Amino acid sequence: MAARTRSKHRLADGTPLRELVRVEEGRIAARVFTDPEIYQLELERIFLRCWLAVAHESEIPHPGDYVTRRMGEDPVIVVRDREGQIHVLLNSCTHRGAEVCRVSRGNAREFVCPYHGYRFHLDGELAGAPAHEWAYDQQFDRKAFTLHRARVGTYGGLIFATWDVSAPPLEEYLGDMRWYLDLLLKRTEGGVEVVGAPHRWIIEANWKTGADNFIGDGLHTFMTHRYAIELGVLPNDPLIGWFGWHISVGRGHGVAIVGAPERIPLPPYLGLPQELWPLLERALTDAQRRILERTATVHGTVFPNLSLLNTTTIATEEGMPRVPFLTLRVWIPLGPHRMEILSWFLVEKEGPEWYKEASRKNYERTFGLTGTFEEDDADIWVSLTRANRGAFARKYHVFNYEMGLHRQPRPRTEWPGPGEAYWGDYCEANQRTFWAQWRRLMTEDRG
Ligand SMILES: [Fe+2]
Repeated sequence: MAARTRSKHRLADGTPLRELVRVEEGRIAARVFTDPEIYQLELERIFLRCWLAVAHESEIPHPGDYVTRRMGEDPVIVVRDREGQIHVLLNSCTHRGAEVCRVSRGNAREFVCPYHGYRFHLDGELAGAPAHEWAYDQQFDRKAFTLHRARVGTYGGLIFATWDVSAPPLEEYLGDMRWYLDLLLKRTEGGVEVVGAPHRWIIEANWKTGADNFIGDGLHTFMTHRYAIELGVLPNDPLIGWFGWHISVGRGHGVAIVGAPERIPLPPYLGLPQELWPLLERALTDAQRRILERTATVHGTVFPNLSLLNTTTIATEEGMPRVPFLTLRVWIPLGPHRMEILSWFLVEKEGPEWYKEASRKNYERTFGLTGTFEEDDADIWVSLTRANRGAFARKYHVFNYEMGLHRQPRPRTEWPGPGEAYWGDYCEANQRTFWAQWRRLMTEDRG
């Protein structure tokens, strides 16, 4: 048994997984971003165990509505049945494994496999197969061929699913991150809704580059997005990303709530339209409201691969009102050196039309598929993946995650929210939280 346990913690060449992720010293080996063996372990130890965001309820409002997504590399159908219940089904026929649904969204009465015509109800149960009484000698046990069903949970309209029957309930999994998700998803009574279909595209970068950036990388803004500063879209101030709170929420989740130095004026509540202020004041606690009052950007990651961004820092068009936009994205693994990005634009249901329009444009020009900021980031993540897949880098190269290593979290009297809060978003505490959780799952002894 000891030998088996030991081998679980080591890669094929004998390297202990623990040695690659030394968060206590602020050191992460380059290998974790590019190694095919590590990638295969992640699919089993992270993507089979965690709660994964797959859709938002507003994408499938009516009975029969569905979207197709991925949990890790496994394709799933997220569907609302006739009773309104949401199911997440493995998109693979129980007969011979063809995808039973071949389009990204739609409305269906049932799913019919295009290979042999097996038909499935919206809850995944097998409805029948052509000529089954003859073909299967009347011995056909339909119940035994239900599509694989994941556990489903929702929070603030977001739909999560997990394959792990022993995973904690979603609320417990999200833990204190719920308090911060409420700031974005539940700040008005009606909450937010997805507009249109998510943008989706594939880049040649490891999935963790996105999760690691969004969870707490305040420092890259001034360099990676430098051209925006030179164009005057962002203030030319090296402290633009510093002025805020960097909060490690635990369980691998982290968030940053960034304002601006006093000399830079900020609109109240990220620039949300005044019509929404009374709703905000009703929906949020006093502490949450005070936090949003002088905030320009909220960014973060829910472990492992859901990230969020709500920002008003970016001015896009002269004469246009300065309004924030909210995007959620998932970093879907498609191999050690490739991911698909799914990026949703969301907006408050109760928001006035002019705001919804201005907010969407702001998103599309910056963080949508053709968004300029998006392209800045993707270029770097692709280069990071490319630069570290060679034999030398994989064996010897180690990254520096020391930023803020010796900084102490501030007391609750200074920061009213849950989690370990650090002053200043130039800090890598959140990244270390992410990697500590990654290491925990990758080395956990289970069954
Ligand atoms: Fe960026």
